[in-house]
Amino acid sequence: MTATVTQTDWLGLVATMGDASVDLLYADPPFNTGQTQTGRAGAYQDAWPDTAAWIAWLRERLAVSLPKIRPTGSVLLHLDWRTSHHARLLLDELLGPDRFVNHLIWSYGLGGSSPRRFARKHDDILWYCLDPNRYWFEPPMVEATSRRMAGRLKKATDVIEIPAINNMATERTGYPTQKPLALLDLLVGACCPPGGLVVDPCCGSGTTLVAAHRLGRRAIGADLNPQAVEITRSRLTEAGTTPGA
Ligand SMILES: C[S@@+](CC[C@H](N)C(=O)[O-])C[C@H]1O[C@@H](n2cnc3c(N)ncnc32)[C@H](O)[C@@H]1O
Repeated sequence: MTATVTQTDWLGLVATMGDASVDLLYADPPFNTGQTQTGRAGAYQDAWPDTAAWIAWLRERLAVSLPKIRPTGSVLLHLDWRTSHHARLLLDELLGPDRFVNHLIWSYGLGGSSPRRFARKHDDILWYCLDPNRYWFEPPMVEATSRRMAGRLKKATDVIEIPAINNMATERTGYPTQKPLALLDLLVGACCPPGGLVVDPCCGSGTTLVAAHRLGRRAIGADLNPQAVEITRSRLTEAGTTPGA
């Protein structure tokens, strides 16, 4: 399947796309942590003057991206406790609350604990569709956990239990905030039809593009950071496809 990746701002990527051509827009933007995210193989800035500035940044990019999505398509916006509540209101405003489908919880397990609060162990993925009567969805099947269903598969719920990438994992690239392929396999397989087009405008290490390629979906990615684009290219090559630019 074709995959292209470009070093550009999210806005620059959208400017190159035709209207209503995208089946799935998956965006995992900076979460506004107020820090530089640093890993062995890259770093990116994740700081805005305040939450309002971050929302304005996201609003501008979502507003131009939404007309690029097909009537049967979807948006998955991957955030965490810092901003997901703001983003939900933003998407309600831009698309309408009736386009909300799910607030997915990615429960990742790893990380420390706190004596002052419940340990934060999940990210939030907001799923909105373009048309509640037409959006494409293939329910993912996961292993059942109950004794009665032992060894069988069941439809996934809105709580997705997939471990974060650990230090020893072979898929680890060293790029900061890399998401597990298992998570993107599940999301892309569920929300983009076979042969459809997935766009990831903040693609980081390219996890979404690799998942799309593995699943027979076309993919377009972009990232401001040249380190991210380089890692994405080499992952795609390793996965058996020659990435375009
Ligand atoms: C949370 S990371 C994405 C991680 C990715 N999902 C993965 O699995 O590796 C966010 C990415 O957004 C990129 N980014 C920040 N601002 C951007 C912008 N204006 N346009 C495009 N990419 C941007 C950063 O360089 C970073 O790679």
